[in-house]
Amino acid sequence: MDNLMELLKSRRTYRRFEQRQISREIIDEILEAARLASSAANRQPLSYIVVSGAEKVEEVFVHTKWAGALPPEQGQPKEGEHPVLFIAVVENLDINKNCDTDAGLAISNMTLAAWNHGVGSCMIGACNKAALSELFGLTEDQALHTVVAFGYPTHESHVVDMEDEEQFKYYLDEKRDYVVPKRKLSDVVRWL
Ligand SMILES: Cc1cc2nc3c(=O)[nH]c(=O)nc-3n(C[C@H](O)[C@H](O)[C@H](O)COP(=O)(O)O)c2cc1C
Repeated sequence: MDNLMELLKSRRTYRRFEQRQISREIIDEILEAARLASSAANRQPLSYIVVSGAEKVEEVFVHTKWAGALPPEQGQPKEGEHPVLFIAVVENLDINKNCDTDAGLAISNMTLAAWNHGVGSCMIGACNKAALSELFGLTEDQALHTVVAFGYPTHESHVVDMEDEEQFKYYLDEKRDYVVPKRKLSDVVRWL
């Protein structure tokens, strides 16, 4: 249990990466973790598109926006810092139109399975879904939920207690590591 809590604590969002490929075994494990996720009524409406190889990754990268809380020169990965893999999460609407919770669970499994191997990730909601849907060749029964970026991080990320209501924005410290304020347990839990 200690190891699981350590994994959960350190599995943060990472936004700068080494230009080192992720092995096929690890990619397969990330996908297997998604496949194993719980699903409403077990309908399993999600499918996945794997984007690897520098050229294809760049084709996706240009449609992604990173770290909305930071000025682009701080948050947007620069050349040489880009992810090396994207996995797109696709909703198959003919199976189930309400995929949001399924997608969240699958993404959580994927990012944890990746981090278990030291592979960091960033889920990207702020992407050009129209352009990416075309690039991926999605049908009219399919919708792009999210793309998730992966790579070996070159920075750290630390959680700190959120001391006041205005302090929800993450920031970079003097080492350019991310600092992520989280609401304290006592602020978000009420026991009946
Ligand atoms: C639904 C969702 C969408 C997100 N979209 C983006 C995004 O478009 N770009 C980005 O850089 N980070 C994105 N993130 C990452 C969040 O900014 C990040 O989870 C948050 O700052 C807390 O950091 P943590 O994941 O390390 O706890 C997204 C996270 C979630 C849950």
